Amino acid sequence: MDYLEIEGGYILQGKVNISGAKNAALPLLALSLLAKNSFELYNLPEVADITTFGKLLTMLGATVTSNNYGHRSINTSSIHSTKAIYDIVRKMRASILVLGPLLSRFGHCEVSLPGGCAIGARPVDLHIQAMRKLGADIEVRGGYIIAHARDGLQGADIVFDKITVTGTSNVVMAAALAKGKTRIINAAKEPEVVQICEVLQQAGVHIEGIGTSEIEIIGSDREIIEFKPIRVIPDRIEAGTYLCAGAITNSHIMLVNIIEEHVESMNIKLREIGFDMQYQYDCNNICTLELFPATQPLKACRITTTEYPGFPTDMQAQFMALSTQCEGASFIKETLFENRFMHVNELQRLGANITIDGNIAQINGKTELIGAEVMATDLRASSALVLAALVAKGVSKIHRIYHLDRGYERLEEKLNLLGARVKRLNK
Ligand code: UD1
Repeated sequence: MDYLEIEGGYILQGKVNISGAKNAALPLLALSLLAKNSFELYNLPEVADITTFGKLLTMLGATVTSNNYGHRSINTSSIHSTKAIYDIVRKMRASILVLGPLLSRFGHCEVSLPGGCAIGARPVDLHIQAMRKLGADIEVRGGYIIAHARDGLQGADIVFDKITVTGTSNVVMAAALAKGKTRIINAAKEPEVVQICEVLQQAGVHIEGIGTSEIEIIGSDREIIEFKPIRVIPDRIEAGTYLCAGAITNSHIMLVNIIEEHVESMNIKLREIGFDMQYQYDCNNICTLELFPATQPLKACRITTTEYPGFPTDMQAQFMALSTQCEGASFIKETLFENRFMHVNELQRLGANITIDGNIAQINGKTELIGAEVMATDLRASSALVLAALVAKGVSKIHRIYHLDRGYERLEEKLNLLGARVKRLNK
């Protein structure tokens, strides 16, 4: 199995290109199920989750052609199955995103339940309830969601009890081919949801309230859609992770291909901790974010994870690693997932001083981290270990990095280009 060997203590320098967002790309791949024409997706991150989703589409009968780096053409005119099997769904919870599009286009589908997840129970009840509200007849049997809507879905008012990102995208896609008007109340406002809505709007679907908590969609009554080529938005979580890499090593780095407002909640915290940042736009309007090293000891911070535009849960672990280098007690409160502190034990192996009380972690700094062998437990937790290893004295080995490969494109190459010492080894 591959592992990373990281020699800590090097200052980083230079530019890093931010890839397309995995969490935006996955629903866009699902959206291809609504396409009349060949669906052209650019700026896809070349990560394992995208390959897995491509496999899922292929199993359903789609033709997925890899063109240049990050470009796929997807043709869904040859779909012959509407069953998303357990073997794929268990690898990637986001497979649930095929539920809405398959049901609205074909009038039936079977999607395996995602099953357990390392960061908590993560049920899909809100997806199921919403599809029922749109007129689907759904039973859960043998580990599968078996859904029928023989005469198509019917627009309705959906009120989400909890804000759900993939749940909102699923309903948006289902509603696009439903009959009549769907209103989503308490919709997610994440940039990944916004992109799905904008792509549908550019394709002629009537959709209002994009980026707000109330979205309204007029469906096409099962008429499939002609899409324009799409460029996936930059990955705000990858960007945040590299900002933390620069911050934890107190380096001067530049992140190329950023959307300013998408990273603002993280930048506010970085400024509180003591970093200066500056945005620059080139003649093509590509945004670069420059991070400057802090000139004073880093200040402790308080973070509460919330839905967008609040501080993202997917950045909580990375800021915890950074907090180990801040002076005093930092507090991180996780409000979205009940079991998202698994990186704590591993950070402690590197010397971090962290205590947990319910959903609040207290990080006492500054601590000198010392290289050790640690184990990745989920995608973002793993990146926190990489960050800690960048500043730890000596050599760290990070095992089970298949978690990292799910969501970070060419991680060790990008870090090494910045001057880090990271090796991918196998044993
Ligand atoms: C998405 C992101 C993930 C991120 C999360 C929160 C993708 C592919 N993944 O996950 O990286 O951490 O948003 O920003 O975009 N819930 C229910 N029932 C449901 C659905 C969700 O109770 O049917 C709960 C979840 O357990 C969680 C909360 O709602 O407590 C938010 O989850 P949700 O926004 O749905 O997360 P995902 O869309 O799975």
